Formats: sequence, structure tokens, C-alpha cells
Amino acid sequence: MSVYTSIIRPILFKFNPETVHNFTIGYLHVVSKLPLSQYIISKAYKVPQSAQLQKTICGLTFPHPVGLAAGLDKNAKAYKMFGAMGFSFVEVGTVTPKSQPGNPKPRLFRLPKDKAIINRMGFNNNGVGFMVAQLKKRNSNLIIGGNIGKNKTTPNEDATADYITCFEALYDYVDYFVVNVSSPNTPNLRELQDKKPLTELLQTLMYENIQKPKQKPIFLKIAPDLTHSQLDDIVDIVMETKIAGIVATNTTITRDNLTYSKEYIDSIGAGGLSGAPETNMSTEVIRYLHTKSHGAFPIIGVGGIMTPEDAYEKLQAGASLIQLYSGFIYEGPALIERICNYIIKKTEK
Ligand code: FNR
Repeated sequence: MSVYTSIIRPILFKFNPETVHNFTIGYLHVVSKLPLSQYIISKAYKVPQSAQLQKTICGLTFPHPVGLAAGLDKNAKAYKMFGAMGFSFVEVGTVTPKSQPGNPKPRLFRLPKDKAIINRMGFNNNGVGFMVAQLKKRNSNLIIGGNIGKNKTTPNEDATADYITCFEALYDYVDYFVVNVSSPNTPNLRELQDKKPLTELLQTLMYENIQKPKQKPIFLKIAPDLTHSQLDDIVDIVMETKIAGIVATNTTITRDNLTYSKEYIDSIGAGGLSGAPETNMSTEVIRYLHTKSHGAFPIIGVGGIMTPEDAYEKLQAGASLIQLYSGFIYEGPALIERICNYIIKKTEK
């Protein structure tokens, strides 16, 4: 038991999840401005440093493979503190060109018995201009990914322009990009995962990318709900468009592996499910992509990493890096260190 799971989590879980989220991000944002705050937090969470943990992917050297998944720091307000807690990279966003409120509340639900979350936030964010202003204050080598999306009011035919706007605005301020076409909470967004629109979108982004003096790695984030034939298309698209790789996976629209009654789950309504019920689903997507592509591109594995064993399994299935969201909410920052120690132990054998 860590201080987080024994004291902090029980207090936080007494309050509305979105209130806790906003309070925590606001608090971390303010604290990050205080002198020595990053130093003090980094001393409290000591992630081991070891050559066994280090990974170089797409020209970026990650001190260890554990990063923060998109959606927690949607506006890049707290990335410095997440870095201080030990994450080796932080994916900010999803950001859209213009600020938007997201879906009506309530839209974030904890399912503690199953260590799961259901959300239908709907890309609530302050817009890419706000994010750029935050990222201009970067003060360390922490690797930052920019997860980009489209505004709800932008029709799918015009979506490419939204992704380009975010790409151009963030180009100087992030180390890699993630194209998010897999959120279940923006109407029709996941249709952009179809072969034709997706190829066109990624080709256009890659065209913009190669005009730049230094290309930035562009990853595609996919849903865990794709069929094998859709995953085959994804492998073809990565090879054809020459994007850097895949982030697998986003939340699922399924409601499997839950112990709550169907009536209760139905009463929550639409949204993406994350956390422990998603663990195997996303690992199998990673394994399938890695096998089909013969390891031709890096995969960032995310989805239900709640324990060091889950993390190691994702790496064994073919992930080069991993990310946490729900596992961080349930287990706290100490999970990063536990995963790193476990990887060292396993690789020493
Ligand atoms: C997310 N996730 C997400 N992903 C993304 O690409 N853009 C986003 O804006 C968000 N927003 C978001 C909000 C909330 C409340 C949750 C729980 C999740 C998905 C997230 O990055 C991750 O892919 C999934 O949650 C699966 O990982 P975990 O949570 O099981 O570790």
C-alpha cells in the first residue's frame, strides 16, 4: 500500500470525479510555478535510472518506457509535475483548433470495484493557442507528445484542416504527434479510421511534416474495437503513409469484464471504458499489429495497465513504450517506479 492508495485515493474518491480531476490539475498547475516544486516532487518519487530501461524510438531517447496517456493533461497545464512524478514522457491533449466545452455533465464515472472508468468528455479543451502558451514554458528535457483532434462542429469532410491547424501550431513545441481518430465521444470521429479518409488525412499530415527542416514522429491512436481486417488496413496505412507508428489503444465502447449490474452500467450511458476491463483487449491489439507488421514500426501500448505485470505483458506483446491513465488514477504515481523495477528484475533474469 502506498500513501496514495491508503490515504489520498480514499479521500479523492469521496468527491465527484470531474471535480477531483479539475482540482488536481489546477493544484498541480499552481504548484508547478513554485520554486523547487519539481525538484521536491521528483525526490519523493524516485524512478530508477538504468540502461535496461532506456529506449530510443524515432530518434527520441526515453529514460524508461512509462509515459502519461492523453486526456489527463488536456491543456498542458500540469505536464511539468507529471514529469517530476517520474513519467518519462507526457502526452498532452487531445487538443482541437478552437476551445470547446465538451459533452454535458456528468460525463466521467468511476467503477472502483472493477478498477475502471467510463468517460464521454468529448474533447473539452481550451484550444491549441492556449496549449502553445503553456508549452512555451517547458523547462526540462521531458518528452512531450501532442495529441491532436478536430472540433465537434467541424464536419468529417473538413477534419484534415483541423488536424493541420493543430499540427502547425504545436510543431515547435512538442517532440511527437498523435493523431486521434479513435475517441468514441465525438460524433462520427471513428469513421475517420476507415482506410480511405485515414490514408488521406495521414498523407496530408506527412506532406506538411516533410516540408519542415526536421520531421516530427507522427503516431496514430486507434480504438481497441477494430476487427482483424481493420487492423490489417491499419498496418497497410502505416507502411504506405510512412507515419512513425501506432498508439494502441484508446477506450473501448464494449462493456465486457464488468461486475456491476447491466442496469447500473446502462444507466451511466454512452462513453469509452478504460482500466482493468480493457487490459487484455488492448494487449491483443498490440500483439496482432506487432505480429502482422513483423515489428516494422513502434507501438505505444496503453489500455488497462494497472500492475507491473500488465505493463510487462504489453512490452512482451510488442509495445516499445507504454502509457498509463486509469492505472495512475487507481494506483497513483508509485506505479511508475513499480513498473520500472519490475522490468529491471525481469530483464536481469
Ligand atoms: C481518455 N483518453 C483519451 N485519449 C485521447 O487520445 N485523447 C483524450 O482526450 C482522452 N481523454 C480521456 C479522458 C478520460 C477521462 C479517460 C479515462 C481516458 C484515453 C486514454 O488516453 C487511454 O487511451 C485509455 O484510457 C486506456 O488507457 P487506461 O486508462 O486503461 O490506462
